[in-house]
Amino acid sequence: MAVEFSEIAEAEFQELLSRYPNTLAAMLPALHLAQREFGWISVEVMDYVAEKLDVHPTRVLQAATFYTMYNKQPPGKCHIQVCTTLTCALMGGYELMDHLEEKLGIQVGETTPDGNFTLTEVECLASCGTAPMFQVSYSDGESDYFENLTPERVDEVLEELNEKLTDLPDPRKMHS
Ligand code: FES
Repeated sequence: MAVEFSEIAEAEFQELLSRYPNTLAAMLPALHLAQREFGWISVEVMDYVAEKLDVHPTRVLQAATFYTMYNKQPPGKCHIQVCTTLTCALMGGYELMDHLEEKLGIQVGETTPDGNFTLTEVECLASCGTAPMFQVSYSDGESDYFENLTPERVDEVLEELNEKLTDLPDPRKMHS
C-alpha cells in the first residue's frame, strides 16, 4: 500500500511548513508527523517525506538514521524507553531494565513476538527529579512518562499497558 498522509495529517504538514523558513528546516517535525501517521519510518516513508519536502532522499535518510527517536523498524504497540543516564542509573534504571527484560522475555532493543512491546534504552528524558523513569510511546501517537519507578510499580504499569493494547493500532500493519 502506498503511503499518503490523511487529510488531517496533510493539513498539519502544511501548517508546519508555514512555520519554517524552508522545507529543509521542517524535516524533523515532518518526520515526527510521518512516524505518527505511518507507525514507523521505512525507506518508503523517507522517500515520501523527501518528495513532500522537495529535498533529496539522502537528506531524509541522514536525519532519520541519525536520530534514535525515529523507528526504522515497526515498534511494538507500546514502546518502552528506559532512561539510563546518570541520575536514573544511580536511582535504579538498570534494575528496571533487567526487570522489564525478564517480564517481557526480550532483551533491550527487541520487540515481543506478538508485536505488543518494544524495549529500548534512551538518554536523559529531562525528568531527573523523578528518577528512575521511562517513557512509553504508543502506536496511536500518544505517550506517557512513568516516574519514581520501582520493580513493583513496573509490574502495575505493565498491567495498565496490557489493558490498553486492544485499542492501539499494530504498527506492522500501518503500512507495508
Ligand atoms: S537522568 Fe533520567 S530523566 Fe534525566
